[in-house]
Amino acid sequence: RTTAVILAGGTGQRVGLAIPKQLLKIAGKAVIEHTLATFEKADSIDDIIVLMAPGYVPDVEKIVAKAGLTKVKKVIEGGSTRNETTERAIQALGEGLAEGEDLNVLFHDAVRPLLSRRVIDDCVTALERYQAVDVAIPSADTIIVTRTHGQDGEFITEIPDRSRLRRGQTPQAFKLSTIKRAYQVAAGDPNFQATDDCSVVLKYLPDVPIHVVAGDEYNMKVTQPVDVFIADKLFQLASTAAPEQNGEEDYRELLTGKTAVIFGG
Ligand code: CTP
Repeated sequence: RTTAVILAGGTGQRVGLAIPKQLLKIAGKAVIEHTLATFEKADSIDDIIVLMAPGYVPDVEKIVAKAGLTKVKKVIEGGSTRNETTERAIQALGEGLAEGEDLNVLFHDAVRPLLSRRVIDDCVTALERYQAVDVAIPSADTIIVTRTHGQDGEFITEIPDRSRLRRGQTPQAFKLSTIKRAYQVAAGDPNFQATDDCSVVLKYLPDVPIHVVAGDEYNMKVTQPVDVFIADKLFQLASTAAPEQNGEEDYRELLTGKTAVIFGG
């Protein structure tokens, strides 16, 4: 079976609203509702669990009930960091398993509401061969590595070859047994620090290859205030490109080749 884990334990400090950004309404729906609806509609997904910011579990339960999202099996509180939220999910998923049973799990940021079903399906397919899968896109920007020298500020130490650089997105997909083992090893490291889940596998299970699936430019993360406007515009474009779909279909396919029509180009 395959379970999607929606990571929504954050409070969105950088967007800076009074409510967590995953509850913000964009194009008529909460950000997290867009995300959940995409997983609900993906044939390759059997179940969904949500890890929500403390105090906001009832808000998600209301959304789930109202939208009739039948794949959502659990809404529980997340942890104080993204990795703690993942660990809670691993624990919750393990509780329902029989001895020796494994599961495919896709960890996805609640605040990437423009995910396409193509990416979800590619992750699930990749899990037939690999125990760990990441989703990434090429970097258009040159990425520089810097070091800070006191009051003089930052200086470049390295400019890695851009052709090998990728920008990591989510989902990140794993066999549950693999990601569980990675976190078990990490628990023994007093200096454990990470912001995603593939880096935990990379560091603590170095023999496990992590396959990379092509991501999608539209699969943006709502992180800064400007991202709210961009996401809103993208949902608008999707509904203009295919009004009959109500802006809910596969954005990449809808928008490719159609932006010229929309903008009169
Ligand atoms: N996340 C989580 N548990 C946490 C922190 C973050 O599940 N303790 C989730 C967020 O809800 C989000 C995803 O991880 O869906 C990506 O994190 P980010 O964009 O950094 O979200 P926030 O932590 O909410 O944002 P900020 O850092 O601006 O406060």
